[in-house]
Amino acid sequence: MNKIICGNTLDILKTLDDAIVDVGITSPPYNKMEKQKGWLVKNVVYNNYKDVKTEEEYQQEQVNVLNEIYRITKAGGSFFYNHKTRWDKGRMLHPMEWLLKTNWCVKQEIIWDRMIAANIRGWRFWQIDERIYWLYKPINDNKIGEELLSKHAQLSSIWRFSPERDNPHPAPFPITLPARIITSILNDTDGIVLDPYCGSGTTIVAAKLLGKKYIGIDISEEYIDFAEQRLENCNTELIKLNEELAKHKIEKTFKQRKENGEFTGKHRTNITNYSAVAGMF
Ligand SMILES: C[S@@+](CC[C@H](N)C(=O)[O-])C[C@H]1O[C@@H](n2cnc3c(N)ncnc32)[C@H](O)[C@@H]1O
Repeated sequence: MNKIICGNTLDILKTLDDAIVDVGITSPPYNKMEKQKGWLVKNVVYNNYKDVKTEEEYQQEQVNVLNEIYRITKAGGSFFYNHKTRWDKGRMLHPMEWLLKTNWCVKQEIIWDRMIAANIRGWRFWQIDERIYWLYKPINDNKIGEELLSKHAQLSSIWRFSPERDNPHPAPFPITLPARIITSILNDTDGIVLDPYCGSGTTIVAAKLLGKKYIGIDISEEYIDFAEQRLENCNTELIKLNEELAKHKIEKTFKQRKENGEFTGKHRTNITNYSAVAGMF
């Protein structure tokens, strides 16, 4: 516990016990084929790993990794899997292709609106989103699971924040992302958080700041060294984390809103400032 392990994630996961993890979060390498894609993608080159596989190999590896994570997750536990849709010679490669081959129940597809694109060509509309799949391990075949607290559930299924810029890792996500997930799923309870491709340690830093235990895995010693430095100085990241936590609140109860004739949670198409209602941005 509270370690970042260096090695190939599938090999390391196989050495871990059953049913130990409460929530996992990751962004795997996307099999970007490196230099064959757009200018920003070209710069996303990992120091110890070549992100070039056949698509079949990549998808099968992801299925195997996700099934090992399923095994080591407690029943009722969740895994949040950040990926994007990709194209190969015009054919869309959608993460659902392999997620539906895993043991997980796909609970929700969240759109991460990053507000910036990696490749600004006119083959299609400007692709500024990535996806975050909420995967769930049922308890006794109950695929619904527990409800989120209202203060979390009022956040919508579209998450809008920019990618991380202040980090030397080639493809980090911002701390907002794991902070939102960990606080929504675990609230104030103890728990063990996993990131099987933890890179610069963003998930692990969020877990530590939120008082949770963690397990990280990455193939690069250099990224792990950096993640460990981040853990030592993690208090410097509290401001960003607290900005996220401040969004998890209910300003008025349902009763108060109803009495004032305000928004009561029904879907209404005439809301022009939905974000203010949801208290999200
Ligand atoms: C998209 S990055 C994750 C970045 C991370 N979310 C962060 O905020 O820094 C993917 C990571 O997977 C690691 N990786 C690639 N293949 C791996 C493998 N087979 N086993 C373990 N780690 C691997 C890379 O070194 C890279 O750090």
